[in-house]
Amino acid sequence: MTSLWHATGPSVQLDAPGRRDSFDVVVVGAGITGLTTAVLLARGGAHVVVLEAREVGAAATGSTTAKLSVLQGDRLHRILELARRDAARAFVEGSIEGMRQLRALLADTDAVQSRPAVSYANGEEGAESLERELLAAAELGLPVERGGAESLPFETAGAIQLADQAQLEPMAMLAALAAELRAHGGTIVRASVRTVRVVGRGVELDTDAGAWSGGVAVLATGAPVPARGTASMLTAHRSYAAAYRTSSPLPAVMALSVDAPSRSLRTATVGGEELLVAGGRGHAVGRHSDPRRLVAELDDWVRAHWPDAQRTHVWSAQDYRTPDRLPWISARPGSRGRVLLATGFDKWGMSSGAMAAIALSARIGGEEPSWARTLRRRGTTPRAAGRLAGGVAATARADAVAFARTLRPAKAPAEGEGVLGRVGLRAVGTSTVDGQTRQVSARCPHVGALVQWNAQERSWDCTAHGSRFAADGSRLEGPAACPLQELRRAG
Ligand SMILES: Cc1cc2nc3c(=O)[nH]c(=O)nc-3n(C[C@H](O)[C@H](O)[C@H](O)COP(=O)(O)OP(=O)(O)OC[C@H]3O[C@@H](n4cnc5c(N)ncnc54)[C@H](O)[C@@H]3O)c2cc1C
Ligand code: FES
Repeated sequence: MTSLWHATGPSVQLDAPGRRDSFDVVVVGAGITGLTTAVLLARGGAHVVVLEAREVGAAATGSTTAKLSVLQGDRLHRILELARRDAARAFVEGSIEGMRQLRALLADTDAVQSRPAVSYANGEEGAESLERELLAAAELGLPVERGGAESLPFETAGAIQLADQAQLEPMAMLAALAAELRAHGGTIVRASVRTVRVVGRGVELDTDAGAWSGGVAVLATGAPVPARGTASMLTAHRSYAAAYRTSSPLPAVMALSVDAPSRSLRTATVGGEELLVAGGRGHAVGRHSDPRRLVAELDDWVRAHWPDAQRTHVWSAQDYRTPDRLPWISARPGSRGRVLLATGFDKWGMSSGAMAAIALSARIGGEEPSWARTLRRRGTTPRAAGRLAGGVAATARADAVAFARTLRPAKAPAEGEGVLGRVGLRAVGTSTVDGQTRQVSARCPHVGALVQWNAQERSWDCTAHGSRFAADGSRLEGPAACPLQELRRAG
């Protein structure tokens, strides 16, 4: 499904490949993190190339809801519960710096609209959470105050707000970043990276478009690809979003609920018309039996509050969460600082992606800010370790549920559906899309967990670490570096 931003915003062409060696830095991934990192490095005089497997904005950044805010629902007090205080403070400092520098980079564009950010509660539990968030914000030095829900067309059980945050138009933002990168000699080239090796004082990247080399590699691929030693630290969460045309009054704020039903609201101006953008209902990737229901629920909820709303676009996207809910901006274990990575933005990558770009480009330049060092060196608290163990157990349970579904003979499903089954001893996935029935291996090439059909996106989604594949098995996103093996095609 195509996001509002991809459908209506600028698209960014890729460059023809030139030399494949002698780069100072090879950035992998052309989302906000990769392009902002590349811009900051190129502005500093580095020779930079960005390798992108699909297209600019192909994954989360082109399908985000793109609120640029340091008030992020009730995340601040959740972080304080899970991480050390100095790390939480470093996160806020880095987020503010990321937002400041991103806004400066986009100052001459129409990709940014200033708005207050509001967190609101639906019920008593949410109201208590808001109280804790107010205290956390005060402890971390943010001027969050009560109020902000006046322009929402429904009752709330309380709200808190932070002034002068912003909503972005993400494809306009990526187009502006790509233009700035090119103005400083950088290029963006199509290549899907399979492996990254440290060789001597540099790196070599094996891709489907040949080998590339440079001094340092930056993996800005959402979940790090290749994923050695990183995937089990992350959980992948997918959410649904839609845009609506309505003549009812639109909110003057960006809003996010802190309790169920989870809803994210903003507006977007397209061709002079202001649309409502609503999102919500995140779930672990590959672990919801029918995400079409989540979109129907979102539609019903929007029409209950904006009765004449007509849906114009619907889409979904995913992002990654660490056990302590802080971003992971560091070096790949064992890479001697030559392979850097940025992930774990927990659906807040507009500020965190920019923060990661500042941290990584400064580290490569030898002047890492102290907030970035504190974040990078934070240890795991006992609570975060408990969440990590819980995540590993949930992954094993999800695989067991999917395994039970493979214990039947494979058969062709109805249009738009996909089913697991077995051919001999082999677990297979069979789907029918646009009249074509295809069979793929049901084992994810990352580390072999089972995939499950996502009928909303018509994709095979891995139940373990969030890799996703099209019906023909081709890789869409996630830590797997290869496609699902296609076994049979008919129709
Ligand atoms: C539904 C939803 C709503 C969100 N709303 C907000 C919000 O309101 N505010 C906010 O701050 N954040 C939000 N986020 C989070 C934010 O969108 C992400 O954190 C951010 O876009 C991540 O950017 P990125 O550049 O790190 O990764 P991505 O945008 O995912 O980019 C990664 C790129 O790497 C490429 N790639 C992957 N593997 C390879 C490979 N092997 N070789 C080459 N290229 C590769 C991909 O094709 C992709 O283009 C939301 C996320 C979701 C899912
Ligand atoms: S993403 Fe790890 S096994 Fe599929």
